[in-house]
Amino acid sequence: MVILSVTGRAPINIAVVKYWGKKDERLILPLNGSISGTLDLTHMCATTTVAISESFSEDQFWLNGLECSLSARFSIVLEAIKKRALENETIDREKLSWKIHICSKNNFPTAAGLASSAAGLACLVFCLARLYNIDGDVSGIARLGSGSACRSMYGGFVEWMVGECRDGRDSVAKQIIPANHWPNMAVLILVVNAGRKHTSSTSGMQTSVQTSRLLEHRAKLVVPDHIDLMRGALLQKDFQTFAQVTMKDSNSMHAVCMDTYPPIHYLTHVSHHIINLVHSINNYFRTCKVAYTFDAGPNACLYLLDDDLPTILSLIRYFYPKIQNVEEGGTDDDACRDGDV
Ligand code: PMV
Repeated sequence: MVILSVTGRAPINIAVVKYWGKKDERLILPLNGSISGTLDLTHMCATTTVAISESFSEDQFWLNGLECSLSARFSIVLEAIKKRALENETIDREKLSWKIHICSKNNFPTAAGLASSAAGLACLVFCLARLYNIDGDVSGIARLGSGSACRSMYGGFVEWMVGECRDGRDSVAKQIIPANHWPNMAVLILVVNAGRKHTSSTSGMQTSVQTSRLLEHRAKLVVPDHIDLMRGALLQKDFQTFAQVTMKDSNSMHAVCMDTYPPIHYLTHVSHHIINLVHSINNYFRTCKVAYTFDAGPNACLYLLDDDLPTILSLIRYFYPKIQNVEEGGTDDDACRDGDV
């Protein structure tokens, strides 16, 4: 029995200028460009094995040890990969017809607003490209699976270009700086709640596009400005601008969620407590030491510089005494110390 298989690993990415809203649902074309940092390959990754064989009778998928049905998005990605393989004649036609088995595992909570789909889809597309011998950029194919997944195809800080072509050909990811350009940048993830989010980013975005006037303003004026400032901050390693734009952009995205009708509340009182804590720390030091950002969930991602990690961690441990590492099963919606920050 012949089995061809590839195993790969891909990390999550954390957006500092956020994608929120699609102009084309089918092709996943965003209303605005976005920028994120890709984490390293240790803590928050998807690990995926894809295998094809003439003896497999059906396509099958296992996620975190459980068999799941294959989504429509998976079929779109597989079709796009096979089309590219066929055009470039990278694998013989017979093997393209073999059924596929996919086994994927996340080492962090799935669907909790921690970009699990980005890591999973990026990893899947990476493995499929290897399996079918496809060279070159496949971020546009990852985008078809889950928009933000295209940014996890590269390391360092990455921009997902908004693109102008109607077929999405130029809506791809490009690296702005590699990870070693700013090696002392660190990320702390505070898991406020590891449960599944109440409103998926897909449905949240749809309602925002339909109902929020603020989203038009954000996509046209706010984000282009943030993208320019962020590119400059990254190239010059200017942490002050980086931190301010990161926080303002997160606030702007969640303001759009509030402006959506009915409103979408991803942030909990603990998330708001973390926001106040970060501003108090930065005010106390009279400089930005740390920046928060929140995706479609209550969990905080904090960007900071390595040298400040001990100070910031001890402050966080003081204000959240019940905090635990994720491996220890720790998350608590009610964990913050009451009183002034
Ligand atoms: O790619 P999706 O559908 O998971 O959307 C991600 C949206 C945000 O995480 C909120 C923002 C972003 O740019 O990652």
